[in-house]
Amino acid sequence: MNLQTQRLHLRPVRVNDAAELFVGRGDPDVMKYWDWPAQQSVEQVRSIIQNHLTEIEGGQTQWWAAALSPRGPAIGEVDLSDIDLHHRRAEVGFLFRRSAWGQGLAREAMDRVMRYGFEELGLERLWARCHAGNQPSQRLLEKLGFTYEGTLRGHVVREGKRRDCLLYGRSR
Ligand SMILES: CC(C)(COP(=O)(O)OP(=O)(O)OC[C@H]1O[C@@H](n2cnc3c(N)ncnc32)[C@H](O)[C@@H]1OP(=O)(O)O)[C@@H](O)C(=O)NCCC(=O)NCCS
Repeated sequence: MNLQTQRLHLRPVRVNDAAELFVGRGDPDVMKYWDWPAQQSVEQVRSIIQNHLTEIEGGQTQWWAAALSPRGPAIGEVDLSDIDLHHRRAEVGFLFRRSAWGQGLAREAMDRVMRYGFEELGLERLWARCHAGNQPSQRLLEKLGFTYEGTLRGHVVREGKRRDCLLYGRSR
């Protein structure tokens, strides 16, 4: 499902987006608070996309590439995952390449994805998880109306060290 905002075109991620997504996913600054370290190659990003295709086809995940024009490069990505139509909830995620930060683009994309989740999928709860210390992400979630719901202690192992994660949620 393609979605549009004032400045962004959101289209389902395809394997061919790997090179463009690698600009963000291969950047250690962008990946500082991700569950996994920066990816090492376009091929690695391609396999990640391929590994998600079953979930995408099964409707548990929707993953969009965000571009400034219909055929422009994917400067960011946003997703709904763990989509559960019985419990009417999903997790949200977002990542933009560094050159796209500080322009309100992530917020614009997420506003649209949240509206899609609530109004078109009929979801009633969205939640997100970010690593402790990820202030840009916390700021974005708060602007989007999410509230802090608790800390998942040592929830993630990143380069051998356990990290706390902050749980955020919002209802429709
Ligand atoms: C999290 C992330 C997407 C936030 O990106 P962002 O660009 O800071 O977020 P927003 O879209 O909300 O933009 C906000 C900034 O744009 C500025 N801005 C400029 N023009 C704007 C406009 N037209 N509308 C809104 N904000 C605008 C705001 O003032 C704000 O700047 P500030 O951060 O200096 O206060 C980005 O940091 C990222 O990709 N991080 C790496 C991946 C990651 O950690 N993902 C989260 C995992 S949970």
